Amino acid sequence: MSEQELRVSKIENGTVIDHIAGGQALNVLAILDIDGSRGEVVSVGINVPSDRLGRKDVVKVEDRELSQSEVDVLSLIAPAATINIIRDYEVTEKHRVERPGAVTGVLNCANPNCITNENEPVASSFAVLDDGVRCIYCDTIIRDNIAQHIGGT
Ligand code: CTP
Ligand code: ZN
Repeated sequence: MSEQELRVSKIENGTVIDHIAGGQALNVLAILDIDGSRGEVVSVGINVPSDRLGRKDVVKVEDRELSQSEVDVLSLIAPAATINIIRDYEVTEKHRVERPGAVTGVLNCANPNCITNENEPVASSFAVLDDGVRCIYCDTIIRDNIAQHIGGT
């Protein structure tokens, strides 16, 4: 049994997001809109030792599978993450996250004058760069604190 398994026990059904960059777990919870208020059962390991990453975070969400748009945003803050689907205690699927070309409808533009922040029926959309995202409407670039821009129109 590896060290991180000693720290956070196995789950019966749900999703394990593994190999998150150390310190990013709380941002992962923000992306998944998990704050504990709806009774979600979630285990979090922060800065646990990892052979591959040195330190990593792990988030285990019971009885939930993630949407593709959630995984797309996760990839921006946790590019090395592995998504493990657990059914009946077994890992039934394992995927590495992939950086998408664009993310639509999940991030808010940082520019208050952007058309996506006006009362127009325009969904936010960002091109994914190597080091951030760029609004396709106003070219505003978000590099840091991407998790603070979750909740797009
Ligand atoms: N896991 C879990 N509950 C289960 C099965 C697995 O929480 N019922 C977790 C493990 O603790 C691990 C992740 O899911 O963090 C992936 O499990 P597994 O593929 O068995 O581990 P590794 O082989 O170490 O994965 P990898 O090769 O992706 O590092
Ligand atoms: Zn914009």
